[in-house]
Amino acid sequence: MTSLVLTLTETLRYKGALGQWSWVLHRITGLGVVLFLVLHVIDTSWAYFYPELYVKAIAVYQSPLFTIGEFALVACVVYHAYNGLRIALIDFKPVWWRHQEKAARYVLIATAVTLVPVFVLMFSHVLKHYQSPDVQVLGLDAVVESQIPFIAGFVIAGFAALLLSAITMAILPKSAAGPKAKPTGSQIERFWWSFMRLSGVLIIPLVFGHLAAMHVLQGVFDMTVAGMTVVGVPVSGDATALWNGINASGTAVEFVGERWNHLLGGVAIWRVFDAALLMLVTIHGFNGLRYVLTDYTSFNPMLKRAAIYLCIMGAVVLLVTGIGALLGTIDQTAVDMAKEATAKLFAP
Ligand code: HEM
Ligand code: HEM
Repeated sequence: MTSLVLTLTETLRYKGALGQWSWVLHRITGLGVVLFLVLHVIDTSWAYFYPELYVKAIAVYQSPLFTIGEFALVACVVYHAYNGLRIALIDFKPVWWRHQEKAARYVLIATAVTLVPVFVLMFSHVLKHYQSPDVQVLGLDAVVESQIPFIAGFVIAGFAALLLSAITMAILPKSAAGPKAKPTGSQIERFWWSFMRLSGVLIIPLVFGHLAAMHVLQGVFDMTVAGMTVVGVPVSGDATALWNGINASGTAVEFVGERWNHLLGGVAIWRVFDAALLMLVTIHGFNGLRYVLTDYTSFNPMLKRAAIYLCIMGAVVLLVTGIGALLGTIDQTAVDMAKEATAKLFAP
């Protein structure tokens, strides 16, 4: 954290050119999205594993604090995506390097041009929600309280990575673990360099499509409106069927169930879509986090190793949790549990 603050203050002191600012912004936006991703994949998996907890998680997303965060998140994703595309294109064609400064300016303009209409649409969802007569808002204390397990999880993961690093350093021969350890893996780093660019480009349509569905076409508030259609799922016309494209119970669990259980030509397309998104963003995001953390811990081999372990652990936990949920079946029992939990959550 201190090092990230130092990066910022030094950029301000140095009055960096646009290139320097692009680098700092790319780093901060990437870190912001990774942090969100950790909360989001764990929360989403509860739709299958713990329907009652998912109800609360969505109420937290609908609270004013998270609404502000949602605007910031969308801004981070859009800037990071456009700037990442600039990096990937320019690295692909080194003759374009001389246009770096101009390209960085275009990225800022494109971000602003995209965000203005998107924010207007997002804001219209917020307004509609607060104008509704039966709006229910979770208190700030409950919102803050809901984040405590995540903070505890981050601290525990940090200590576990440090412990594992210390044990490995003690076991490994000095030559392999010490500060003068021979540089290995340049081929692996070349792979990661290409992966970051290719995965970044592939993520753009997936994450933009996902955000368009959840913020523009519908808003996160629409997930809990009874009788509402569900984005990306056509209404089947069979009103008696549980999965007919309408969120009859008005629970977030039924919303996710409608999407994950919808079949197109026998294929659960939203599960496949989410699995592709999950794998790409998790591996890209945690490898990016590794770049950042190892940059700031390179002075101490044990800390640097702990940073790498932390990123591997984080990615594995998210992949296992996310895929576990995608392979599960959301059924009527889960929807009933969610209905009961919703009634309790806002009970006077
Ligand atoms: C939307 C499409 C995206 C594109 C085009 C993109 C592109 C890139 C590129 C080209 C890099 C530089 C890699 C390098 O220096 O070798 C990068 C770094 C990074 N990306 Fe992304 N990315 C995208 C989405 C994401 C997402 C969704 C996350 C978070 C889950 C993320 C997190 C990061 C992080 C943390 C870094 C490291 C930043 C640093 O080293 O300063 N990116 N991205
Ligand atoms: C506040 C903004 C967001 C909302 C409201 C939202 C909402 C949702 C919902 C409702 C699902 C459940 C499945 C579905 O309906 O497709 C989901 C899944 C998912 N979202 Fe988002 N999303 C948001 C932003 C993002 C961003 C920025 C990313 C990527 C960096 C992302 C990555 C994912 C992934 C990977 C899954 C699958 C999770 C799993 O397998 O358990 N989401 N999202």
